[in-house]
Amino acid sequence: MIKINENYLKLQASYLFAKIGKRATAHQAAHPDQEIIKLGIGDVTRPLPDACIQAFHKAVDEMAHGKSFRGYGPEQGYDFLREKIAQTDFKDRGADIEADEIFVSDGAKCDTGNIQEILSTDIRVAIPDPVYPVYVDTNVMAGRTGACHKGRYDQIIYLEGSRENGFIPDLPEQPVDLIYLCYPNNPTGATITKEQLKVWVDYALENKALILYDAAYESFIRDAALPRSIYEVEGARQVAIEFRSFSKTAGFTGTRCAFTVVPKECRAYTSDGAEHSLYDLWYRRHTTKFNSVSYPVQRAAEAIYSPEGQSQSRALIEYYLKNAALILEEVGSMGFDCIGGQNSPYIWVDCKMGSWEFFDLLLNKAGVVCTPGEGFGQCGRGFIRISAFNDFENVQKAMQRMADVLG
Ligand code: MLT
Repeated sequence: MIKINENYLKLQASYLFAKIGKRATAHQAAHPDQEIIKLGIGDVTRPLPDACIQAFHKAVDEMAHGKSFRGYGPEQGYDFLREKIAQTDFKDRGADIEADEIFVSDGAKCDTGNIQEILSTDIRVAIPDPVYPVYVDTNVMAGRTGACHKGRYDQIIYLEGSRENGFIPDLPEQPVDLIYLCYPNNPTGATITKEQLKVWVDYALENKALILYDAAYESFIRDAALPRSIYEVEGARQVAIEFRSFSKTAGFTGTRCAFTVVPKECRAYTSDGAEHSLYDLWYRRHTTKFNSVSYPVQRAAEAIYSPEGQSQSRALIEYYLKNAALILEEVGSMGFDCIGGQNSPYIWVDCKMGSWEFFDLLLNKAGVVCTPGEGFGQCGRGFIRISAFNDFENVQKAMQRMADVLG
């Protein structure tokens, strides 16, 4: 008899963004003439930078000729891309990361989900609340949790975020082995300083713990004092794996390209305490289960690092940050307390009622889709997240409609 992985039965009904998508689709079917504006899932709407398009086309043309055609590429990604990443994103910022510590992939979502496969199932996992749901769900799937009660899984140590702590949780009171952190934060838009991040790095060093650091939104940082990478903090090479993505940096959500950094010093242990390199384990996993990203996509990603690509992708981020500034201003003037939106594409709004209730109100009365904070965890109750990823005209229209309903 073939048996299922029963951990899947512990999962809450559906993935958050699938649930929101379904509600929006049902609403659209019932109101076919209403134009719905989506400020829910953080999906980009602007075209790829021209430098990426040019490189993409050129690489596709290379595939049309025997001499320049490419078959399987290196599993870890082409050197031409990994070297640019190491230099521009890390060395130029004083973070000591080598090209061969970078693993190119098709998404930070997949990588943050897959990475826990190289860790034991009996570790103690600390996950912020509110949080990007992938971290929780993938640990449930792997069997690191018990059942779910009122939205919380037994055995997960929840690191609570609140308005009071600025959504930067305190260190856990009980010992933990694996810690998820994401800054600029999804969903709250909160940012972390180097000093605050150092507290977590020091904790991990002292406790032989590992930090999974999701920096998918680092390109939105405009405050030069904020760290863009955890490796800007001393000691992080030994205790942190970092996830990056070109999805939001350069509009690659549909093109798919990201990378994970696993420093060679990063260690974890067997149950008898013997030290092992996480790099070796991830290398083994990645080369066994993945054949990297297509050649044209990696060439398009490489073009982000050209002078034109840098200025065009920066302009893209500025565009979304202008949306974020407008949302922050308008929603604030409607009398709601907001955080985020300054070094982040997300605005986290205290909506003064149940977050699904507010979601339904906005959808039904204004035709605007947001994300209910509760979908990111218990501490998200009473909040909604508004995404700045849309065209400016749509954001203006959405703000006007919200003001008409709520103002
Ligand atoms: C979000 O809306 O939280 C993100 O777009 C989800 C993702 O990047 O997978």
